[in-house]
Amino acid sequence: MILAIESSCDESALALFDPARGLVRELVSSQAAEHEKYGGVVPELASRMHLSALPLLLEDFRHQLPQVTQLAVTLGPGLLPCLSMGVTLARSLSLALHLPLVGVNHLRAHVHSSFIAVHAKDPAGFAAARAALLPHLGIVISGGNTLLVKLDEQLRITIVARTVDDAAGEAFDKGAKLLGLPYPGGALIEQHAQRGDVKKYPFPRGIPEKADLRMSFSGLKTALRYQLEKMSDAELAVALPDLCASYQEAIISQLAAKTAAALDLSSYKSVGLSGGVANNRTLRTRLTAVAQPRGLPMLIAEPKHCGDNAGMIAFAAWAEAGLPTGAAAVPAASLTVDQA
Ligand code: KG4
Repeated sequence: MILAIESSCDESALALFDPARGLVRELVSSQAAEHEKYGGVVPELASRMHLSALPLLLEDFRHQLPQVTQLAVTLGPGLLPCLSMGVTLARSLSLALHLPLVGVNHLRAHVHSSFIAVHAKDPAGFAAARAALLPHLGIVISGGNTLLVKLDEQLRITIVARTVDDAAGEAFDKGAKLLGLPYPGGALIEQHAQRGDVKKYPFPRGIPEKADLRMSFSGLKTALRYQLEKMSDAELAVALPDLCASYQEAIISQLAAKTAAALDLSSYKSVGLSGGVANNRTLRTRLTAVAQPRGLPMLIAEPKHCGDNAGMIAFAAWAEAGLPTGAAAVPAASLTVDQA
């Protein structure tokens, strides 16, 4: 059984994974309400909150600790003061309980999170089921990263495409801030967009050339700012649903176009969607509509595994077991993922 610890940003989380049964217990303590007051995550405050939350979560796993045979912890990427809280707890547990400890890359864990449901369906048949789904195009869209990656038959991860500036989640959050919505605003933009017209405002779609897989979201944010400068507060209040719908559409149509282009450039057996922005229902539907006509199964991470969570860390530690570790054994393109 693997006990995993996650503390890379503003969620403290612990999870227990049993390879024969799946994720048996997952706890998350979110600090979002605290950081909302400051309009973003305050690293020093987040770190202090991990310091108090992690031991409380661990207390909840106390009676299961004798069954644990392996520890896993998020090593990065993330906020250093936050990561160090989880790593310190994991190292202490490893020393006290004489258990092996493995460090997990948070972004690689997002890629593997699309396969948690495949494992849950048939734990004993997972290796064969996963092999039939590789090579896999993983779409990882979070507050800090926007990546299309290839997970190959040897479980190597290479970057296929990424944003040249802001991440898609960042575009949602910065757009929401300009619109006067609280942080993190992605889900609120989705909510208002439901009643709006996606064609009302022609916001830019990043890099339009089909052969160029790079994504760009910073021009979109600037276009929204210029649009808002032309509007009074009263006009903004009336136009909010249309602004949200058009803004969301500009993000989603770019992600869908680059996913389609990536699928046409290389051969894949499945597509995955994960990361916080994968909670967006319109995005889920649109990317499924890109994968399915090409005969590719769409593996979408469950909502509880989209944001930061320890379940995906425990699962990735197991899913990657046996892979060579250490920078020298990791292909160069994968190193970029490690450093993103
Ligand atoms: O970075 P991330 O994977 O994990 C957490 O820190 O929990 O996800 C956070 C990002 C934020 O940018 C947030 O606005 C975005 O995910 N997000 C959404 C939605 N839910 C969360 N973006 C668009 N639509 C949503 N429904």
